[in-house]
Order: sequence, then C-alpha cells, then structure tokens
Amino acid sequence: MSSHADGRTTRKPRRSAPAWARRAALAATAAGTVLGLLAAAPTAGASSPGAPTAARPAPTVAAPDIPVANVKAHLSQFQSIASANGGNRAHGRPGYRASVDYVKGKLDAAGYTTRLQQFSTGGATGWNLIADWPGGDPNQVLMAGAHLDSVSAGPGINDNGSGSAGILETALAVSRAGLTPKKHLRFAWWGAEELGMRGSQAYVNSLPATDRSKISGYLNFDMIGSPNPGYFVYDDDRQIESTFKSYFASINVPTEIETEGDGRSDHAPFKNVGVPVGGLFSGADYTKTSAQAQKWGGTAGRPFDSCYHRSCDTTANLSDTSLDRNTDAIAYAIWTLGGSGSTNPPTGTVFENAADVQIPDAGAAVTSAVQVTGQTGNAPAALQVGVDIKHTYRGDLVIDLVAPDGTAYRLKNSAADPAPNVQTTYTVDASSEAANGTWQLRVQDVGPQDTGYIDSWKLTF
Ligand code: TRP
Ligand code: ZN
Ligand code: CA
Repeated sequence: MSSHADGRTTRKPRRSAPAWARRAALAATAAGTVLGLLAAAPTAGASSPGAPTAARPAPTVAAPDIPVANVKAHLSQFQSIASANGGNRAHGRPGYRASVDYVKGKLDAAGYTTRLQQFSTGGATGWNLIADWPGGDPNQVLMAGAHLDSVSAGPGINDNGSGSAGILETALAVSRAGLTPKKHLRFAWWGAEELGMRGSQAYVNSLPATDRSKISGYLNFDMIGSPNPGYFVYDDDRQIESTFKSYFASINVPTEIETEGDGRSDHAPFKNVGVPVGGLFSGADYTKTSAQAQKWGGTAGRPFDSCYHRSCDTTANLSDTSLDRNTDAIAYAIWTLGGSGSTNPPTGTVFENAADVQIPDAGAAVTSAVQVTGQTGNAPAALQVGVDIKHTYRGDLVIDLVAPDGTAYRLKNSAADPAPNVQTTYTVDASSEAANGTWQLRVQDVGPQDTGYIDSWKLTF
C-alpha cells in the first residue's frame, strides 16, 4: 500500500486494526449489522476464522487491497502509447484507439465480455469500451466508469489515465477474486469526455429507458492521482457517498464534498436520466487552501494539479498515495455496493484431485485429472483453478490447464523465479469449453536440479 517506485515512503495514518480487520468490519457494516467501524480492533475474535459467535454477521468477502504498482504499470503503458502517438491520447487520434485496445486486451484475458460502442463527434469516430463481468442480477447493474481520452495538449496521465487505470485494476481484481456479486457489474471507458462528455452521453442515449432503470448506480472516476491531492467525494446519491466516506474513515483520511464543478464529468449524463451517481476526485486546477494542506499534506496556495490539461500531465504528475487510496476505495465500493458475499456465498461446486503426482526433474510433462459432472452448459468465464504444487524452485515449472476437448490454457510459464512452491488460484476464461468431462492439470519441469510434486489441485464451478 505504501511502497513507491521512487523510494519515497508514505506516512500512514495511525490505525487501530490491521487492514483485514478493518475491511471485515466495513463489510459487516455494509451488510447491515450493528458492528461499527470503531469496533474494528481484532480483540473480540470477531474476525478470526472458525470462531463464530451468535452476533457474528454472515460471512462476507472483504475487498482486496489493490496493488498500486499494478495501477502505475497501466499508467506507464498509457504514457508509452501517448509518446508513440504524437504525445496524446485524444479523441480522434491514434493514441486514443491504442489506449482502448490496451485496456480491452487486459479485460478479455481476465474473462470479461467486452464491446466497443462507436460514435461520431467533432468530425471523428470515437469509441466507448464496455466490459461486463458475467453473472449477477441483470436487473441491478452496478457501473463504474472513467474517461479514457486525454486533451490533445498532453498524455493525460492524471486526467484521466488515473481513473481509467484505477477501474481497470479493480476490474482485474474482481476477476482474480472470482467475485460473484449479487449485482451485475459493468465497467466503462468513455471516449471524448474532453469534448463535452460525448461518449458517456452517447451511451446513455443508446440505452432504452427500461435498461436505464436497471442501473442501480454509476460510479465515476475522473482524476484520482493528483500530485497535490485532495480527497473529494461526490455529493450525490447518499448510499454511494456514504460508502466512499466509510472507506476513507477506515483509513483515517478526511474527505470533502466535491465542489470543483458538479456535472463536469461523465456522471452527468447518467444523473440527468435519474441514475444514482457518485464518484471520487483528487482535484484539478483549483488551489489547495492552507486548511486543506493541513489535513491532507501537500502544498497550500498551489493547484491540486498544476499540469491539468497540459503537456506535463505525465507519469511524473501523480501522487502514488492518492492513486493508492482512491483505487482501494473503488474496490471497496464495488465489493460493498455489488453485494458480494453477503447474499451470494462465493462457493461453487469444487472438483479436486488430491493424489500426489511426482514431477520428474527436467523431464516429461505429468498430468493430474479431475472428472467434472453434473454441470449444465459451458464452464465459467472466470473458472477458478486452485493449484498446490510443492517444488524447491517454482521457476522451473510450466503449468497448463487442459480442457476436456484438449484445449490447453497456459497458467504459468517458466521464469527466473527462485521461490519454492506454487500455491495459488488462477482464473481462466473457460466459457468456450463444455463444463462436463475430464480436465487435467499438466505440469512440466523444464530446469535441472530442483524437483517436486503436484500435491493437489481443484476446479471451482
Ligand atoms: N475532466 C474534467 C474536466 O476537464 C476534470 C474535472 C474538473 C472534474 N473538475 C472536475 C471532474 C470536477 C470531476 C469533478 O473538466
Ligand atoms: Zn477528465
Ligand atoms: Ca528442476
């Protein structure tokens, strides 16, 4: 949470409980129990596994801590895209389309159903990228969006690579977690916001009224990594607003109501047709007051983002702390408002093979099989593949999941990775495979010296 590529350290606010305990308490609060925020210290054993008490809420799935390094990696890609395309990612320019293709590639690989919505404005073609996470109630859609275009003056890393990368990494975390929320989740990257919210307006216009009414909330993220940050929460839908405020309260970061220009971003078209909206904002060209500098740090008398809409809005124009906190807040809101875990236990049917299979040193591939039966139709778009391999040097291992029809899905390549063991859960888009049949885990050791065995593995349908 607080590591920075440039070696700075962030002074974290004093906290009364570790992150997992705070998150568990937050999730419980959101589920409507009486467990309060300030009762989050792990003293009563309320959060220790296997110690249920009468007052304990139904199990909930805690939102993950989103690695800020992953968010920054997406921002580096946006920067490279701009640099390779005339210095911007603006509507109608090649850097915009390259940005769409980058985000789409990540989402497709993670099991999202993506589509491009084309529109035309300012004499050029624009695109919105819409990504649906399979499952959830189609009559209750929770949306999160960010504009992916920059102004033509610069690469638009804070405005709005930051929001775009923040929701992208949250979407990828949903996939990694194999989240099965009560609501249907949809993420959107808008084109041509900088021309007047043209992409988001085109999307809202394209929705029949019945579909609009199924959107239970739209969360907007436009500028969340400002270098001299403030922590602003949109003052709109009460439930959305209080969800964000709960998160910031849990990390002891004060917030203010966003006043820099209501309706200046892509939530406006949604709000105008009656969709509940909310969002986060770390500030643009307004000046940070001394009172704000006192509570948030940074520099009073300077803009929140002095590179707003300028060529200097590069990867140097960021606060890692702001990016980190806001991205964790996005994940918290998606997990909480999506209703994950509280109504839908995230357990499917598990098929496991726990028989040990030795893996010959630098030898032939070995397999371990599970029989999947009793399923209807195809395998999930986010099939969870739990792998437990004991090995003295996991870098030697190449691992594939082999579907009943023989299609192989690469889970892991060999690498210069000196750590032992592979104990992890992979997510595979297996939606083009029939669920029933013999699935195999195929493991090959491709480097001499170190050895091991498949201890167990499982598929969750
Ligand atoms: N993209 C917005 C714009 O250029 C940035 C912005 C300014 C903003 N003020 C805001 C976004 C207030 C949300 C709220 O106008
Ligand atoms: Zn913007
Ligand atoms: Ca070996």
